[in-house]
Amino acid sequence: MMRVGVLTVSDRSARGEREDRSGPLLVELAGELPGAEVVAQAVVPDDVPVLQETLRRWADEVHLDLVLTTGGTGFAPRDVTPEATLAVVDRVAPGFAEAMRAASLQVTPHAMLSRAVAGIRGRTLIINLPGSPRAVRENFAVVAPALPHAVQLLQGAPSAEAGHDYYR
Ligand code: MTE
Repeated sequence: MMRVGVLTVSDRSARGEREDRSGPLLVELAGELPGAEVVAQAVVPDDVPVLQETLRRWADEVHLDLVLTTGGTGFAPRDVTPEATLAVVDRVAPGFAEAMRAASLQVTPHAMLSRAVAGIRGRTLIINLPGSPRAVRENFAVVAPALPHAVQLLQGAPSAEAGHDYYR
């Protein structure tokens, strides 16, 4: 089982000024992961304390296995999702952002403008994705194949060893 939360980070969507299309898309995509169920979804403003509080609660109280954020990873003055994420994780997991930027660079040089990070708080993996639906689709496709094994390892499942052998 993989319990997933999807967090849209956007001032305008939080104020109801712009429809959130990336959050629902991520819910749909994450729901297709093997054994996954999306059990939490929220839209929050680009605000470090609000973001930290939500991430902490989803990890420590809701005990999600995976939290996917979308938005707030760029260079705009209010883009603070990576900072809020780094403030709450115990261990960084650079591979996800490395892979997303490497793959996205094949599509657009603007991939360099995503400051997305990933890390682990307790047994919860938190991964930042950029904000646009197109970026969500492209970046999710990059990380998705590694997510089941990542969550297995975090859960300390004895069967996790078997998942080490993954080759395309
Ligand atoms: N990565 C992919 N694969 N596709 C995209 O369209 N958009 C980029 C980048 N990464 C994009 C992408 C752009 S234009 C920006 S500004 C950054 O992600 C940060 O996006 P954010 O501020 O919405 O988080």
